[in-house]
Amino acid sequence: MIKIQNLVKTFGVCKAVDDLSLDVAAGEIFGFLGPNGAGKTTTVKILSGIMAPTSGRVLVAGFDVTREPLSAKRLIAYIPDEPFVYPKLTGFEFLRFLGDLYDVPYSEQIRRIPELLETFELSLQGGELLESYSHGMKQKLLIAGMLLRKPKVVLFDEPTVGLDPKSIRRFKTLLSEMAGNGAAIFMCTHILEMAEKLCTSVGIIHNGRLIAKDTVAAVKQLVTGPAQKSLEDVFLELTK
Ligand SMILES: Nc1ncnc2c1ncn2[C@@H]1O[C@H](COP(=O)(O)OP(=O)(O)O)[C@@H](O)[C@H]1O
Ligand SMILES: [Mg+2]
Repeated sequence: MIKIQNLVKTFGVCKAVDDLSLDVAAGEIFGFLGPNGAGKTTTVKILSGIMAPTSGRVLVAGFDVTREPLSAKRLIAYIPDEPFVYPKLTGFEFLRFLGDLYDVPYSEQIRRIPELLETFELSLQGGELLESYSHGMKQKLLIAGMLLRKPKVVLFDEPTVGLDPKSIRRFKTLLSEMAGNGAAIFMCTHILEMAEKLCTSVGIIHNGRLIAKDTVAAVKQLVTGPAQKSLEDVFLELTK
């Protein structure tokens, strides 16, 4: 569902992404791990179509994101690390806007938007302007908007930063359900424990290069030693 082929992105002399190739299948939850500045956000921005690659290409459900951006973007939901919402819309209006933009039928919007606001405990604030929302509330609203659309490919950049523990628990369940329904999920995360529990496979990026990609169990075998290693041990060893 997601295909990244020989992707390179340079900013001046900085090579943020250096010849990255990887695939994520439908139903897979892929955890993209790496230290600060490794190139994770740059990679998802290119996957979402908001940043152009220097070379190489990315395909979503067979569509080249650079050449066929509208076809690709119809299938993609992108939840950035800094949630962007229009400050002068209310939560309800923002979801209606997303619903219209992505051709969700009106009757379905009217039924599901209140349910989604309820799910994320935003019912009381649904009529308030988004400029009054906290970081976590904006993030929950974007996740609600993603669920309204039922995307085939979901890109998350550090999705749980700003969420409270109850929302994180709900988020994990939702992620598993979406993958169960056939979505491909690409998630950048610093939270290795979450990656270990939730992801069907993980990749580790370091200085723009992919240094490991496999199931969590197989990645853990990459670093040998007398003791049982956690994903955290392996991550720190590989990126030191
Ligand atoms: N717009 C930009 N202009 C210049 N350099 C950038 C830009 N975006 C990212 N970089 C650089 O690219 C590298 C990778 O950044 P990023 O993809 O944000 O890393 P991560 O998300 O893994 O922390 C860093 O060295 C960062 O400084
Ligand atoms: Mg980042």
